[in-house]
Amino acid sequence: MSIENRKQDHIELALLPQSQGPLTTLFEDAVIVHNALPNISYEKIDTSTTFLGFKLSAPIIISGMTGGTEKAYELNKKLAQVAEEFRIALGVGSQRAMIENPSLINTYRVVRETAPSIPIISNIGFAQLKKLSMEQVESLVTSIEANALAIHLNAAQELVQLEGDKDFEDVVSVIEKLTHRLSVPIIIKEVGNGLSKEVVETLYAIGIRVFDVAGAGGTNWVRIELMRIAKSDKKASLYGEPFVTWGIPTAASICEARAVANEIIVIGSGGIRTGVDVAKAIALGADIVGIAQPFLRSIIVGGGREYVSSLLAQLKVVMALTGARSVMELQNVPIVIMGRLAQWICARKLRLRNTRAYIHCCSNV
Ligand SMILES: Cc1cc2nc3c(=O)[nH]c(=O)nc-3n(C[C@H](O)[C@H](O)[C@H](O)COP(=O)(O)O)c2cc1C
Repeated sequence: MSIENRKQDHIELALLPQSQGPLTTLFEDAVIVHNALPNISYEKIDTSTTFLGFKLSAPIIISGMTGGTEKAYELNKKLAQVAEEFRIALGVGSQRAMIENPSLINTYRVVRETAPSIPIISNIGFAQLKKLSMEQVESLVTSIEANALAIHLNAAQELVQLEGDKDFEDVVSVIEKLTHRLSVPIIIKEVGNGLSKEVVETLYAIGIRVFDVAGAGGTNWVRIELMRIAKSDKKASLYGEPFVTWGIPTAASICEARAVANEIIVIGSGGIRTGVDVAKAIALGADIVGIAQPFLRSIIVGGGREYVSSLLAQLKVVMALTGARSVMELQNVPIVIMGRLAQWICARKLRLRNTRAYIHCCSNV
């Protein structure tokens, strides 16, 4: 199957309810403590933040999804219009297709043309990296004037995908070479199975400073690949079924990544759906969040602007109800962590950034 058809399948299947979960993010185990007496004026709350040298109106990135098809051109254009209007960041989907067929560059470049004043993030899969020259990788960034390159680690997806790339050897050394070569930062990104402390440590040691955890609980790429296999004519084995529940839930993955160093930038993503999720991600250690599927859905069915407006309003309400005037203050609002998330943090002895995080299963971490 061509990349173009596969990408189209991905878009259609990602919109189905079965593409989400079944693991949860574990945000349900984190409760931000309500402040009934906040000394704050709603109108003065500042949700702005800085990311990749740009001032954003809110700590939100539209995660990389599309490119490489005619339909993707339209989707990317609409996503870029929303991102530019609300001054939030935007990623493009894997640019592999434009390397194989340079005439597709415009389906990615449209984001920079439509959104000149926001950070744009290039994208390529780690399993494809070894097959590309340094010049080709550099061109991914320069051709769309991107401000960072996201390298997505999607091992689970590749392993269950019929046509997946299954050779992951020696990728770290390629990434290290790229850190010296590229003029923009590299973002290491998962796609829905989460980053662990060990992975973040390994990449931190070679100079990576931005990590997008893309944990479990939102769009499930193992499930989507299994749905593709099921609808294909091939009588392929569905050996991937047990991996539908594989992965690190987003809330746990944020804590894993943050525990590595305070100086890194942690992008909390995977199943972030509301402004309350955004606030919890930040209180647990993220600096900014990424959201994919809901943006795709809202752009396709209509209502992209309304979706961002309600996210921003929800985020501001949480800030009002906790007395947090800024995103920096949100990082330290009191939060109670219970259940499986608390057990995870304690079992892994993760040190949290939030000095007012109360963890139920142990007195101190
Ligand atoms: C239709 C679709 C296509 C995607 N394509 C890519 C991609 O090319 N590269 C990538 O890094 N992530 C890709 N993703 C993953 C998202 O960037 C994100 O990490 C993941 O969907 C989890 O976020 P969510 O739960 O908010 O959807 C895609 C997601 C969707 C919904």
